[in-house]
Amino acid sequence: MTLSSELRSWYRISGRDLPWRRTRSPYAIWLSEIILQQTRVAQGLPYYHRFLETFPTVQSLADASEDEVLKLWEGLGYYSRARNLHKGAKFIAKNGFPSSYNTWLEVPGVGPYTAAAVSSFVNNESVAVVDGNVQRVLARIFNIDTPVNSTQGIKIIREIAEEVIKDEPAAEHNQAIMELGALICSPKNPNCENCPLNTRCLALEYKVIDQRPIKIKK
Ligand code: ADE
Repeated sequence: MTLSSELRSWYRISGRDLPWRRTRSPYAIWLSEIILQQTRVAQGLPYYHRFLETFPTVQSLADASEDEVLKLWEGLGYYSRARNLHKGAKFIAKNGFPSSYNTWLEVPGVGPYTAAAVSSFVNNESVAVVDGNVQRVLARIFNIDTPVNSTQGIKIIREIAEEVIKDEPAAEHNQAIMELGALICSPKNPNCENCPLNTRCLALEYKVIDQRPIKIKK
């Protein structure tokens, strides 16, 4: 059994049933990832539904005025995200939906994290999502003591993330590893007893879970 297959078996049983995981619509998935960039799932959910109701297609979002978009975004904060969402919709309405990680990066408001998420979820492209959750999970399983916010640490975690996703179903793998970080492998008091990877976790074995990941103060 690979690490990914154990992780994904857990996810299929214990992962949350979230609406953007039930769709293959690039528009809905892209929208969900923009909303979730700096927002928790519980807070983002009603906005996700509201946006899809008000603007059912990327064309309708592109055709809206910036004021309408900002108005619907009200309460989520980081209003540059809403402006980028609107710019992104105009870009996609004109050019069509991107079909790869590199072309997703051209969409306004889409950085490396969002491009990895969307291209894996929509196109099943094999590119690893690395956010704070994923960094924490991997730093613990592989007992990485290089600071995850150093240039070297970012590189090491990225290499491990790419190794772990290799030859695995990318969309499900990325959802599963983010979900483990959100539900089990939390920053404080992680639920190691119920973790599907607890027999493989080096930080748990060495009793340094609470010391991983290491972050340097900047
Ligand atoms: N945060 C960012 N993307 C997410 C997703 N697809 N599911 C749950 N939380 C997320």
